[in-house]
Amino acid sequence: MGMGAAESNSEAVRESFSAEESYAIGRELGLLAAPGEVYALEGDLGVGKTVFTQGFAAGLGITEPVNSPTFTILQIYEEGRIPLYHFDVYRIADPEEMFEIGFDEYAGGEGVCLIEWANLIAELLPENTRTIRIEKDLEKGFSYRRITIGERYS
Ligand SMILES: Nc1ncnc2c1ncn2[C@@H]1O[C@H](COP(=O)(O)OP(=O)(O)OP(=O)(O)O)[C@@H](O)[C@H]1O
Ligand SMILES: [Mg+2]
Repeated sequence: MGMGAAESNSEAVRESFSAEESYAIGRELGLLAAPGEVYALEGDLGVGKTVFTQGFAAGLGITEPVNSPTFTILQIYEEGRIPLYHFDVYRIADPEEMFEIGFDEYAGGEGVCLIEWANLIAELLPENTRTIRIEKDLEKGFSYRRITIGERYS
């Protein structure tokens, strides 16, 4: 893993036992986020992608409420350390819609992109995309989530 990347760390698995813990993990990553990065959030309905995003936004210094309005694909938050481009592509009919929204300008731009349901636009994700996969494991309880954080390329 990581071959060919000049600087990368390896995949990391974090365990969360509550929404607050997932928020805190998101916040940690938000504190470290850099312009031009793309984070692909993968995981089933209601697994905690938005909770993670809310923590991430807090880490960027965003205090306004962050959520995922059903029919809004992109929400931009400008008040943090760098802009946050929060995409939720669940309702996208055709990945081409991403170009109409201007995705290629946001990815690699001044801010950081977080994309819920990124697997639906997998073919459009840039090479430096960092995957955040969130999974339940009911054997470990209803509030358990395994958060697998992909390598970061710099
Ligand atoms: N460990 C946990 N981490 C995150 N959320 C948790 C956890 N345990 C319970 N929850 C609950 O799971 C729900 C996650 O909702 P959230 O909206 O973040 O999911 P989502 O993946 O964004 O859903 P959608 O696919 O609809 O966008 C919240 O109600 C949250 O309180
Ligand atoms: Mg969501």
